[in-house]
Amino acid sequence: MFRAATEARGRAYAPYSGFRVGAAVLADDGRIFAAPNVENASYGMSLCAERGAVHKAVSEGAGRLEAVAVVASGEGHTWPCGGCRQVLFEFGRGDLAVISESPEGEREEHPLADLLPNAFGPEDLT
Ligand code: THU
Repeated sequence: MFRAATEARGRAYAPYSGFRVGAAVLADDGRIFAAPNVENASYGMSLCAERGAVHKAVSEGAGRLEAVAVVASGEGHTWPCGGCRQVLFEFGRGDLAVISESPEGEREEHPLADLLPNAFGPEDLT
């Protein structure tokens, strides 16, 4: 996952922030889907790496997502933004493993439920 995320980070399009991110999600069938952040001159249309990876997975028919790996160009660990946490929850639920690797290569992991407590999800609509 981290190899895929790091390769994706190499394809980041981040001319506005200069902050380069790569993310890879692991689907329950073993497939890995990765994407970088893709910014836009209309800033709000920029897409985070995590959401890019989720959309790729869902587009390719992936089922449940089990983990996401994140690598970024900033100092320390980068964790998915609030919006991406919500999107990850839709397809992974609270036990999805969120793993971030610092530029020094140190990995830290948290279950999504710890990063998005009391999340609102598909079950809440039934
Ligand atoms: N970004 C991501 O792609 N993922 C994160 O986890 C944090 C932020 C992107 C969005 C934007 O292109 C740039 O990083 C600066 O916020």
